[in-house]
Amino acid sequence: MNNQATERLQKAIAARGIASRRKAEEYIRSGRVRVNGKPVNELGVKVSAKDKIEIDGITIGQAESFVYILLYKPIKVMTTASDPQGRKTVYDFLGGVKTRVFSIGRLDYDTSGLLLLTNDGELAHRLMHPGFGIEKTYEALVSGDVSKESVQQLRRGILLEGKKTAPAKVRILGRDATTTKLEIAIHEGRNRQVRKMLDFIDHPCLKLTRIRYGNLNLKGLRPGGWRYLTSSEVEKLHAITYDQNHRW
Ligand code: URA
Repeated sequence: MNNQATERLQKAIAARGIASRRKAEEYIRSGRVRVNGKPVNELGVKVSAKDKIEIDGITIGQAESFVYILLYKPIKVMTTASDPQGRKTVYDFLGGVKTRVFSIGRLDYDTSGLLLLTNDGELAHRLMHPGFGIEKTYEALVSGDVSKESVQQLRRGILLEGKKTAPAKVRILGRDATTTKLEIAIHEGRNRQVRKMLDFIDHPCLKLTRIRYGNLNLKGLRPGGWRYLTSSEVEKLHAITYDQNHRW
């Protein structure tokens, strides 16, 4: 709408974390979108970061103000902002990130793997909501030889603190004389859930790594490494959560 125009309106709406591109197109066509106060109902319009975009009269945030980080959390690191015992925190690994970000969920001190951090509270809230069912996949090394029955038990769900865990995807990746390696995918995020599930079947967890979070994995990163999500990765996270009864 001004001479610094950079991207199509529907793309800008998606990038600002409001809807999938497809949904954004619907909002535009149905006359719910205004740019700098003027209604826009055609898809060709281009906007820049300076333009004020409203949906149903609500101004949506600037894309630049959101930051999405994927960290490969090492073990022996806290997921909190500070630790009274002086242990390392995930923020010790994010040198150079000027924006204040917070983690989407937590990983235990002794768990390594994929942790997302952002300042986009709305997306964080939706991703953490068990109703959205984002799949989190873990690789667990456990002591002992895990039987097929125990795998079935984990798949069906077990009673944790009086409430059954939702069905999990579980497969055996390998074994040696004293341990078994499992892959476990769950949708919930209860406190120390995977470790407690493994305690329940009497195979305590020796090592736990989160290897996937929804469409994201750890490819290309070493423990302690991080990267920004690409805009198409962010869009996908939005799409996963928006397709389900969002207020918009
Ligand atoms: N389940 C656990 O037990 N620990 C984690 O850090 C994440 C899931």
